[in-house]
Amino acid sequence: MKLETYKKGPIGIFDSGFGGLEIAKHIAKELPQYDFIYLGDTARTPYGSRSQEVIFNFTKQAVDFLLKKNCPLVILACNTASSEALRKIQQECLSKKYPDKKVLGVIIPAVEEAIEITKNNRVGVIATEGTIKSGAFTREIKKRNPKVKVFQTPAPLLAPIVEAGEHNSEIAKMALQKYLKPLVAKKIDTLILGCTHYGILEKQTKEILRQNSGQVGRDVQVISEGKVVAEKLADYLQRHPEIEKQLSKKSQHVFLTTDLTTEFQTLGTQFFGKPIIARKIDLP
Ligand code: DGL
Repeated sequence: MKLETYKKGPIGIFDSGFGGLEIAKHIAKELPQYDFIYLGDTARTPYGSRSQEVIFNFTKQAVDFLLKKNCPLVILACNTASSEALRKIQQECLSKKYPDKKVLGVIIPAVEEAIEITKNNRVGVIATEGTIKSGAFTREIKKRNPKVKVFQTPAPLLAPIVEAGEHNSEIAKMALQKYLKPLVAKKIDTLILGCTHYGILEKQTKEILRQNSGQVGRDVQVISEGKVVAEKLADYLQRHPEIEKQLSKKSQHVFLTTDLTTEFQTLGTQFFGKPIIARKIDLP
């Protein structure tokens, strides 16, 4: 597919690497007719332990690239980019250069879902250090319902464990145990998996919560972002026909990366759920 031939444009999906393919998978399932360009910044991943300034600059370069490829709508399918760069991109970049285009993140869909399903108003979040430090989950939850108490734990070992293909191993169980136990002790009834990679660990997470359920873990609902983001996106497009009508619908999916590693093909296929062929591009 020649990207330049679009009259209407594809949805842009950006992630620091291949974790966002989990979100892209659900978007492809929920909205099969829509075209998308997926861009993974594999040359510079991970973003999770980087400074806000660097995360913003990298994300802005990627978003600029996708907007120039005629994407009317870009989804930051990365929690770290959504929490450290999205607001600034919306406020400073979009309104001046691209007033008709939209950039959305993954934090708000997960937050809305958590607020809807929590019964005891105690929500737990696990995410990268960058996402937790930004305070984005707490801020967005409190904005919508100040009564909800948020308990956060950075879980820096989980993304590398998933990337090493160790998600079914004892190491994964031990790491999950370490991160989830203190949250269960806080009597959370809802847990947000606030990182693209953690969707791969959903089953294991539920299992660990169940094991800790001597007290309260049995009742913890787990929010994995892929499905939630895709459903909320479908709803958003219904409510925003001015964006929807700009989107092309030939069911074409393009995968771009800033570094073409064999990992992207293998792990990417695992995250997306079927084989993908990626093309390398350079971000300015
Ligand atoms: N995609 C990132 C996120 O959701 C995880 C990987 C990274 O640290 O870049 O936060």
